[in-house]
Amino acid sequence: MMHDIYYIVSGPMVWISMVLFAAGSLYRVFSMGLLAAKKDHVVISYMNIRYALRSILHWIIPYASISMRRRPVMTAVAFSFHICLILTPIFLLAHVLLIKESWNISWWYLPDRIADAMTLTVIAGCIFFLIRRAIRPEVRYLTDASDYFLLALVAAPFASGFWAAQHWPGYNLALVIHILSGEVLLASIPFTRFSHMLFFPFTRGYMGSEFGGVRKAKDW
Ligand code: HEM
Ligand code: HEM
Repeated sequence: MMHDIYYIVSGPMVWISMVLFAAGSLYRVFSMGLLAAKKDHVVISYMNIRYALRSILHWIIPYASISMRRRPVMTAVAFSFHICLILTPIFLLAHVLLIKESWNISWWYLPDRIADAMTLTVIAGCIFFLIRRAIRPEVRYLTDASDYFLLALVAAPFASGFWAAQHWPGYNLALVIHILSGEVLLASIPFTRFSHMLFFPFTRGYMGSEFGGVRKAKDW
C-alpha cells in the first residue's frame, strides 16, 4: 500500500507537478502580456527597460528602499525566508542525487547542516508571517483563511522534508507527505498568490518605469 503510494507520488506526479508549474507560469505571464497590450496601451508605452531594471535591482537588495528600512525585522525575515525557500530545494544533496539518477546531470550541493538550518529558517519565516497576520490589525484586516492555508502549504514540504532528513520515526510516511506537499506547492505557484514570483519583475518594472520616466522620481 505505502509502496504503491510512494511509486505514484515519486513517479508520474513529479512530472505532472512540473508541467503544471511550467505551463501554468507561461500561461499566466503570456495572458498578462496580452491583456496589457490589448486593454491598456499606456502600460506598454510607459515601460522603460532602464528604469525597470533599476527598480528591480533596488527592490531585491535588502534595505535598499525606505519602506524596507522602516520595517527592519520584516525585511530581515522576508529576505532570509525567500533566499532559503528557493536555494534549499535546488542545492539540497538529496534532490541533486535524485536528479543525477534520473537525468545524469548534477551540480554543487549544500552541506547537510547548512541545508537543515536553511530549512528551519523557512519554517521560522512561516511562523513569523502567521503571527504577524494574526496580531497586526492592518495586516489582519486584509487576511482570510486562504492566507493561512498558503502559509501551511509552504511550511509542509520543509517540515516533512526535515523530518525525513533526520530519519525520525515514521520516515516512510514523512517522505510521502514531503513529496506530495512539494508537488502541490510547486503546481500551485502559477495559480495562487505565489504567482507574485512570476509577476514581481513586471509590477516592479512598471512602477520603476512610471516613477522614473513619467514622474521623474524614484520608487524606493
Ligand atoms: C517533487 C518531488 C520531490 C522529491 C522526490 C523530494 C525528495 C526529497 C528527499 C528524498 C529528501 C531527503 C529525505 C532523506 O534525507 O531521507 C528531501 C528532503 C527535503 N526536501 Fe524534497 N523532494 C521533492 C520536492 C521538494 C520541494 C518542492 C521542496 C521545497 C519547496 C523540498 C524541500 C526539501 C527540504 C527542505 C528537505 C530537507 C532538508 C534538510 O533539512 O536536510 N522538496 N526531499
Ligand atoms: C524570486 C521570486 C520571489 C520574489 C521576488 C518574492 C517577493 C516577495 C515580496 C516582495 C513579498 C512581500 C514581503 C513584504 O511585505 O515585505 C513576499 C512575501 C511572501 N512570499 Fe514571495 N517572492 C518570490 C517567490 C516566492 C515563492 C516561490 C513563494 C512560495 C512558494 C513565496 C512565498 C511568499 C510568502 C509566503 C510571503 C509572505 C506572505 C505573508 O505575509 O503571509 N514567494 N514575496
